Amino acid sequence: MNCLFDLDGVLVDTAKYHYIAWRNLAQRLGFEFTEQDNERLKGVSRMASLEILLEVGGLTGKYSDSEKEAMAAEKNAEYVRLITQMTPDEILPGAREFLTALRAEGIGVALGSASKNAQTILDRLELTSLFDAIIDGTKVSKAKPDPEVFLKGAEALGAQPSECCVFEDAAAGIEAARRGGMHCIGIGNPQVLSQADFCVNALADMTVERLRELFNK
Ligand code: BG6
Ligand code: MG
Repeated sequence: MNCLFDLDGVLVDTAKYHYIAWRNLAQRLGFEFTEQDNERLKGVSRMASLEILLEVGGLTGKYSDSEKEAMAAEKNAEYVRLITQMTPDEILPGAREFLTALRAEGIGVALGSASKNAQTILDRLELTSLFDAIIDGTKVSKAKPDPEVFLKGAEALGAQPSECCVFEDAAAGIEAARRGGMHCIGIGNPQVLSQADFCVNALADMTVERLRELFNK
């Protein structure tokens, strides 16, 4: 048995930092970007997020590719400035304990994140040593809901997809797990994550026993 974890929204709440950085960019471009708008960016890659932001501002199609690259770089510089100030007390409830319990049972643990900043965040949270493999946005070419990130994680663990369970907070991530032929547990609202095997509010609600039940059913 093996576990693959999304990062943002599962192990740490980085959405608030993504929001601050995107909102600053929107303000500079002359429009408001609300927290509700920000919900649409969860689990979505950086450039796809920028397209959504420009759509909110009524600016779709107004900028060249190089202008958009510069905007994404500007947002990312602000985001990196924010996340490099994070501390381990920002780990979401139960996450470190669950990862530690999995390792104690010899269960393989990998990261499967869209973020190109995943390594910086894991280092800031002092979680890096709890992962057998780290697959992030620097190692994949296709964004979720494509299963690439999780298939690469399974491969790095030496596991078949059917031997893996994915933990995800975004509908696109649950779909990626399904398309990859994996079990998956949703973190958050069961209505949004309806394709998951089951949902919990946080990793604090997970135990190794509960995971074993899922694999044995
Ligand atoms: C995902 C987040 O994990 O990573 C998205 O949920 C984010 O909101 C994406 O856009 C890419 O992150 P980054 O750090 O590479 O810009
Ligand atoms: Mg997420």
